[in-house]
Amino acid sequence: MNAAGLPQPLTLATAGPLAGTVTVPGDKSISHRSLMLGALAVGETVITGLLEGEDVLATAAAMRAMGADIERRDGRWHVHGVGVGGLLQPRTALDMGNSGTSTRLLMGLVASHPVTATFIGDASLSGRPMGRVIEPLSLMGASFAASPGGRLPLTMTGLCPAVPLRYTLPVASAQVKSAVLLAGLNTPGETSVVEPIATRDHSERMLAGFGAKLRIEASPEGRVITLVGEPELRPQAITVPGDPSSAAFPLVAALIVPGSAVTITNVGMNPTRAGLIGVLQAMGADITLSDERSVGGEPVADLTVRHGPLTGIAVPPEIAPSMIDEYPILFVAAAFAQGRTVMRGLEELRVKESDRIAVMAEGLRACGVIVEELPDGLVVTGSGGEPVPGGATIAARLDHRIAMSFAVLGLNARAPVTVDDARPIATSFPTFVAMMNSLGAH
Ligand code: S3P
Repeated sequence: MNAAGLPQPLTLATAGPLAGTVTVPGDKSISHRSLMLGALAVGETVITGLLEGEDVLATAAAMRAMGADIERRDGRWHVHGVGVGGLLQPRTALDMGNSGTSTRLLMGLVASHPVTATFIGDASLSGRPMGRVIEPLSLMGASFAASPGGRLPLTMTGLCPAVPLRYTLPVASAQVKSAVLLAGLNTPGETSVVEPIATRDHSERMLAGFGAKLRIEASPEGRVITLVGEPELRPQAITVPGDPSSAAFPLVAALIVPGSAVTITNVGMNPTRAGLIGVLQAMGADITLSDERSVGGEPVADLTVRHGPLTGIAVPPEIAPSMIDEYPILFVAAAFAQGRTVMRGLEELRVKESDRIAVMAEGLRACGVIVEELPDGLVVTGSGGEPVPGGATIAARLDHRIAMSFAVLGLNARAPVTVDDARPIATSFPTFVAMMNSLGAH
């Protein structure tokens, strides 16, 4: 996040019905990966619909610092890559801002290049565990000097040639999977990742799209992804679909504000990301998908959502990886449901941009919502659709999704809800406030 200047509080009060058609910015995960793979292809990759949020801009700056030529022209992003193995020594520390995805995926890239790089970040990122990538990348030969607890600031040196690895993920993490696969690009032989629980598969789809040889097999231990090292990546024309994790905010807003009807166009519906839609439908939400199509190798649809009653359910824990970033806003939806919504299997939420279980529990309580915090999740007792009391100031803790979740909650609260600092929203959804206002929020 841009730390310069003062916090920017954001206050939301009850809105009339939300109405209109909006398009959310490009998918954050896909945007990071298009810049990184474009930077490793020889020739020009052109990206349409790139998310121009601070996290993705941190990735662009780092790839430039390691030799890629990246520029925005005519509304599109043009990337001239250095070729697999061609990354250069950055001359200054790589500032990752708030972005865990930039950090962990770039650590993967550096691990198999003859490069020493220092990664720094903001207070939120500097508190997040990097041991989960340090471990496999060390096995491939990279060396690390990290801050206590395996955190940033961290300096690492890659090994070239690196040692190929078969690695079983100890946590369901697409970032760790992707870090190992990206390290495998400049590694001779085959690098495999075994994921006992499937996580978002954008890296696999995009690596294959850029021409890397990839095998995906089912095994008793889980899904096995094997990458053949040292491919020549071919530049691509990429269209980035809208981010389902961003679409989740106007979607839940329309569900909880009486009388609302909102259409969100061009939303990524990759099954490894779309868990929230099914969960909300199981709670009774009126969400219709139309014009289902494929954009840039990813399934996409338009979503129309109408306000209506929601009923609490027990959300199956195994669905968590397909909606891991959507739990804060699901907690908000649950605050307006009839009865209890039980959400478990969410230990990973404690190591996101903030401890999203604790921070959401505290904020919801401050807004008069009944919640029970569990080590691995949250049980929310909803208002049955009535406005919640609200009237609190929420500490967003440098977490964009906390800020946006409470902004949405404020749209149906008896007293206005203030988010202490809305600046983190710019990491993933710079147009959030303007878009919500265009739908009728204030
Ligand atoms: C991401 C993976 C997820 C997600 C993050 C983006 C990615 O993190 O929370 O916002 O692009 O690979 P984990 O891999 O830590 O679950």
